[in-house]
Amino acid sequence: MAFSVVVLAAGKGTRMKSSLPKVLHSIGGKPMVQHIIDTVNKLNATNIHLVYGHGRQQLQDRLSHNTLSWCLQDKQLGTGHAVQQAIPHIKDDEDVLILVGDAPLIKETTLEQLIAVKKNADLALLTVELDDPTGMGRIIRQGDQVTAIVEHKDASLQQRQIKETNTGMMIMGGKDLKRWLSNLNNNNAQGEFYLTDIIEMAAKEGKSIQASQPSSAIEVEGINNRVQLAAIERAYQMEQANALMMQGVSLSDPSRFDLRGELEVGQDINIDVNVIITGKVKIGSNASIGANCILSDCEVAANAVIHANSVIEQAVVGEYCSVGPYARLRPGSVMMEQSKVGNFVEMKKTTLGKGSKANHLSYLGDTEVGVGANIGAGTITCNYDGVNKFKTIIKDGAFIGSNSSLVAPTVIGVNATVGAGSTITKEVRDNELSIARGKQRNLESWQRPVKK
Ligand code: UD1
Ligand code: CA
Repeated sequence: MAFSVVVLAAGKGTRMKSSLPKVLHSIGGKPMVQHIIDTVNKLNATNIHLVYGHGRQQLQDRLSHNTLSWCLQDKQLGTGHAVQQAIPHIKDDEDVLILVGDAPLIKETTLEQLIAVKKNADLALLTVELDDPTGMGRIIRQGDQVTAIVEHKDASLQQRQIKETNTGMMIMGGKDLKRWLSNLNNNNAQGEFYLTDIIEMAAKEGKSIQASQPSSAIEVEGINNRVQLAAIERAYQMEQANALMMQGVSLSDPSRFDLRGELEVGQDINIDVNVIITGKVKIGSNASIGANCILSDCEVAANAVIHANSVIEQAVVGEYCSVGPYARLRPGSVMMEQSKVGNFVEMKKTTLGKGSKANHLSYLGDTEVGVGANIGAGTITCNYDGVNKFKTIIKDGAFIGSNSSLVAPTVIGVNATVGAGSTITKEVRDNELSIARGKQRNLESWQRPVKK
């Protein structure tokens, strides 16, 4: 049966105490509602109707890359009223899967199971047993039959003992849904039009209502405040960490690992504590990542070693390379295989050729370094005149002495040598030695001044 999805995301999320609408708060670096959209996209839905209202501009900006049917709920009068906003787009003969925007860990398999349960019922409801069901809608049953949902605030003391709760996710036929929604009222503790009231209507019509459960309670846990946000973030990170370990990655401490994006891995990778990975990152087999590294949108090839406290962004690290500790590879940096960058070295739009080294305290910007070159400690490429950027070319086998400034544009030739402390403003040709520093004078009989 064809079905469409309605995602409820119009609420403010008052308890977040935020100018950002609740559903845009991130889990694993991605807005929680985007997690739900991504999961729904794996299902075979005809349409995704997003009910939005609070923070509408921010929502439209952040979610603009999705294919969504946007349904504005101008005033947030309750979950039933929210679903009503999608009704003009719902067909009588399709099923409607209703999801909440604040439970981001819901799994595709759980939703598929709910959809399957609906095949033999008029309405399928995703419920979960909770040790502490406070605040949740309670599932009322007579015998085995679900007969109603009662919201916590409207529930009697006896009903509050019930541990089976409403997750807010359910599926039913479009025609039924339209009829039930048109009969809602707001005579309840919160003065809202509750979606949950349709369950009693269905039961009274003699419709069959079946419940289904998620594989774990965390999947349906809603986020209402930042304490819950942090708890769900940890649960999500642990899930990702476990998946990586199952793929052959060793994590020194899975509870101190953060993946905010997508990570593609080989095998036998070691990742030390407090590593943060954002965007799209690839790490090849046998590579190791030291403690406190940040890797963003980059590639670390097989057998590379990234030492502690290095930051790599939009860069490529080749096989058997060594980076850091305390190195910074900025966008456009490429390290060819077996090259090495040591502590306090910053690279930007720079290629370091095979086997070349910049081991200490350097800035290399807009630079092309050939094969087997050695960049001495403290070498700076002066790539910027305050207005424009210029290139530096350091050819194969060149040796740059320590504390040299290479004023771009300039070229250091094949096997050329630059004496330590030089300020190079002109090209150095192949095999030449260039020394550009004050000549040393030693005064033999010089007397130190004395205090008067
Ligand atoms: C709702 C359910 C409750 C269930 C719980 C699960 C109702 C009446 N209650 O309660 O049975 O146990 O979810 O988490 O349905 N929203 C709108 N427009 C509105 C109101 C809400 O779009 O006018 C959206 C919110 O943005 C949110 C979702 O609906 O994504 C749920 O709303 P929320 O206020 O969190 O409902 P709960 O009180 O948690
Ligand atoms: Ca909620």
